[in-house]
Amino acid sequence: MRCLVAFYSRTGTTKKVAEEISKILKCDSEEILDTKDRSGGIGYFKSGKDSTMKKLTELRKIRKNPASYDTVIIGTPIWAWNVSTPIRTYISQNKFKNVAFFCTMGGSGSKIAFREMAKLCGKKPIAALELKTSEVADNKHLQKVREFSKNIV
Ligand SMILES: Cc1cc2nc3c(=O)[nH]c(=O)nc-3n(C[C@H](O)[C@H](O)[C@H](O)COP(=O)(O)O)c2cc1C
Repeated sequence: MRCLVAFYSRTGTTKKVAEEISKILKCDSEEILDTKDRSGGIGYFKSGKDSTMKKLTELRKIRKNPASYDTVIIGTPIWAWNVSTPIRTYISQNKFKNVAFFCTMGGSGSKIAFREMAKLCGKKPIAALELKTSEVADNKHLQKVREFSKNIV
């Protein structure tokens, strides 16, 4: 089974988890990159506003066609209790056979984000994983990542 981990990460937490998943599953990965500068305090503010307004953004060109994979594992940080703008855009612009979702967050918002992602994909995820930023920073999330990965293969 061919899997792809596709993720966006503004400050590295979601990227860390994405790298762990692609290592466990020995699968391809694609970092979704935004053309919009989202760094610093102004970037934080813009991102919160974009997410609240369910805006789309202009992404850099993707290298891997998600439609050619059996399962695409989509990772996002939670922004304003919802999916991040770059991942909203990525899902809106692509087609998927099967999907699994993971997110990282300060504390809450995963339920709404996963529901929104399923709606945008037009399908339910085969597995879903929510992690707190603090547990990823303390490396207390690895067992959950292993179990999530097991549910995908
Ligand atoms: C604009 C913005 C809005 C956020 N909103 C939420 C939120 O609603 N709930 C939450 O738990 N964390 C929220 N966070 C925190 C991030 O989800 C969290 O720090 C995440 O792990 C960051 O992932 P990254 O390092 O991959 O960018 C927000 C962060 C940003 C930048």
